Amino acid sequence: MARKKIIAGNWKMNMTPSQAVALVNELKPLVATEEADVVFCVPAIDIIPAMEAAKGSNIVIGAENMYFEEKGAYTGEIAPEMLTDAGVKYVIIGHSERREYFGESDEDVNKKVLKAFEHGITPIICCGETLAQREQGVTMDFVRMQIKIAFQNVTADQAKTAVIAYEPIWAIGTGKTATTEQAQEVCAGIRACIAEIYDEATAEAIRIQYGGSVNPATAPELFAQPDIDGGLVGGASLKADFGKIVNWK
Ligand code: G3P
Repeated sequence: MARKKIIAGNWKMNMTPSQAVALVNELKPLVATEEADVVFCVPAIDIIPAMEAAKGSNIVIGAENMYFEEKGAYTGEIAPEMLTDAGVKYVIIGHSERREYFGESDEDVNKKVLKAFEHGITPIICCGETLAQREQGVTMDFVRMQIKIAFQNVTADQAKTAVIAYEPIWAIGTGKTATTEQAQEVCAGIRACIAEIYDEATAEAIRIQYGGSVNPATAPELFAQPDIDGGLVGGASLKADFGKIVNWK
C-alpha cells in the first residue's frame, strides 16, 4: 500500500512569535511539495502567527503537546478545543522530553491520544528506547509496551489515521542517527504490533515516522525504507536544511 510520506518539524522550545513568522516565510518555498504532508509542530504561543504565515502554502501547523482534560484548573496547560479553534491539525503526544522532564506516563499518553481523536486532531505518538535498553537488547519489548498502552481503547478506524514517531532517545539531539537497518527494524516491529492489536489493514494504513538526528544526508535512505513513512525532525527543522529533508527524493 502506498502511504503518503509525512515529514514534521518539532520546533521544541524555540522561536518567538516574530521568529516563527520569519522562519515559516523562509522555509515556505523550500518545503513546497506534493509528495509529502509537511507539518510544523510549534510552541503554543507561535501557533496562530505561524498559521497566518503559512496561509496559501502546503505547510500544516501542529502543536507539541495537549492536555487530556477539556478545560479547567490546569494552569499552563493547553486544552484540545484551544488547538482546534486555532485550526491545529496534528499534535505531538508523549515526546521523550515530556516523559523525562514532565513525568508524562504511558497512561497519560493514552489519555491524550483518546482526547485528540475525540477532537479530530491527528496524534503523532512518540515512542523509543534508551541507550541502556538498546544495549540490553530489550528495544522491541519496550517499544511494544509503549504502543500497546498508547493505543488502549483506540478504534481501528482511529488508528488508521494516527502517526507514530519512533525516536530512539539516544539519537535525539545527539547527531547520532540510528542506522537505516535499526530504524527499519523497529518501525517494522511497530507495524507488526499494530497488526496484532488490530489487523493487517490497520497496520498497512498507519504512518510511522523515524526521529532522532534526521538530516539531509540521512533522510533519503531512511525515508526509502518500506516501513518508514517520513520523519519527525528537531534541530534540522529550524533551518533551510529542512527543505532538503522534505525534498529527500
Ligand atoms: O521530535 C523530534 C526530535 O526529538 C528529534 O530531534 O534534533 O534529534 O532531530 P533532533
